[in-house]
Amino acid sequence: MSHITGDQGKGRQGLRLPTPPGNMNYSRFLTAVSAARRPSAIRILTELQQRSPPSLISLAGGAPNPDTFPFQFATIKVKNGDSIVFDEATMKRALQYSASPGIPELLSWMKGLQKSLHNPPTLAYSPENGQMEMCVTTGSQEGLCKVFEMLVNPGDNVLLDAPTYSGTLAALLPLGCNIINVPSDQHGMIPEALGDILSRWDPADAHAPGSSVPRVLYTIPNGGNPTGASMTARRKQEVYELARKYDFLIIEDDPYYFLQFQKPWAPTFLSMDVDGRIIRTDSFSKILSSGLRIGFVTGPKPLVDRVVLHIQASTMHTSTFTQLMVSQLLQDWGQDGFLRHVDGVVQFYRSQRNAMLSSADRWLKGLAEWHAPAAGMFLWIRLHGIADTKQLIMEKALEKEVLLVPGGVFNIDSSEACPYVRAAFSLSTPQQIDEAFKRLSALIREAAQP
Ligand SMILES: Cc1ncc(COP(=O)(O)O)c(C=O)c1O
Repeated sequence: MSHITGDQGKGRQGLRLPTPPGNMNYSRFLTAVSAARRPSAIRILTELQQRSPPSLISLAGGAPNPDTFPFQFATIKVKNGDSIVFDEATMKRALQYSASPGIPELLSWMKGLQKSLHNPPTLAYSPENGQMEMCVTTGSQEGLCKVFEMLVNPGDNVLLDAPTYSGTLAALLPLGCNIINVPSDQHGMIPEALGDILSRWDPADAHAPGSSVPRVLYTIPNGGNPTGASMTARRKQEVYELARKYDFLIIEDDPYYFLQFQKPWAPTFLSMDVDGRIIRTDSFSKILSSGLRIGFVTGPKPLVDRVVLHIQASTMHTSTFTQLMVSQLLQDWGQDGFLRHVDGVVQFYRSQRNAMLSSADRWLKGLAEWHAPAAGMFLWIRLHGIADTKQLIMEKALEKEVLLVPGGVFNIDSSEACPYVRAAFSLSTPQQIDEAFKRLSALIREAAQP
């Protein structure tokens, strides 16, 4: 890991300049738990063995003999007519332990995709200076949870724009941090508001021992869950500049990146990352399968390595079977085939979104307000005349046979009154969506206070 001295980043007149590219001191971001993690000797041997020629005779490792396993082979039909074949040898591999960062062919395919989509400046950096690295996780949720554990101490100030994904709150809140809510609108986090919050601190104090300057910012940049908000490139750039000024890391949780309804897709934080301060989580849950549980962490190698140490000590690795299944599909498809598939998925969600918007116009005009989401699968609706949607949904909505998520569950303090509901346009047909909004409109009319 690289280290910087106390004077690093100061200009000649004592003015503080942003951290020079590739000069991050990653150790200052680690929790004591993460810093204490050591590589597992057995895991290293397993990985060594898997990279060795078949002539190697290994009495190391404690892997079971796959000849004793009951499964023999499998053929998985793909909707385009192709097949993914697990012959006997592949099946044995699929049923066996594998490397903690992920199987090599899936990792290298994904690195190629990240390069094509984001071309992160850090690709060319040395490993210790934040070179882009990746690991496979069991869904992006595992990655997020481990990233938080790596970076967040009790009492730390953490920046995020709530309402936000309840899974993030579930992972963060028990860590005992102090979450600072950065105001946001339909274009996501507002950089001016973030600047105001940060102006409480002097950037020069960021590296002082015991400093309370936030070291982590979390945001969902596209099709936010629950708000549907998507950040503009300008906002991302401004937030990134603040991260440089105050030297904090940005966690870019982007599972709806592939569900952007308009092209060109917005540039990501990762694509702007000249310093190596972005940790990005990607997910295949919305485009290939949510049940296979495949996600990825992309970020500076010194930090991704820490996530991998945590994986070594917990799940050991994401299921080899599901990694092989997805990897074979991606090798067959190539990047073009993958992106063609994504286009098809986007087309589906775009027309679902449009159907929901027209039903909202038909039934909820004057009773509620909303913004058309540019990505994702959610419409965030503010109900007029209802201070808190919790009781309405939990008690009255079921009677009317319509269910939505009361917005409060996405707030840092879920007991706070919240006039919003989240409606998903992923699963229901346009007819069902229309009927649901008709029922919701009746519910609002009955419950709304003038
Ligand atoms: C914003 C956000 N992040 C992360 C996740 C976790 O996704 P997964 O673990 O399935 O990749 C979700 C799932 O809905 C989400 O909405």
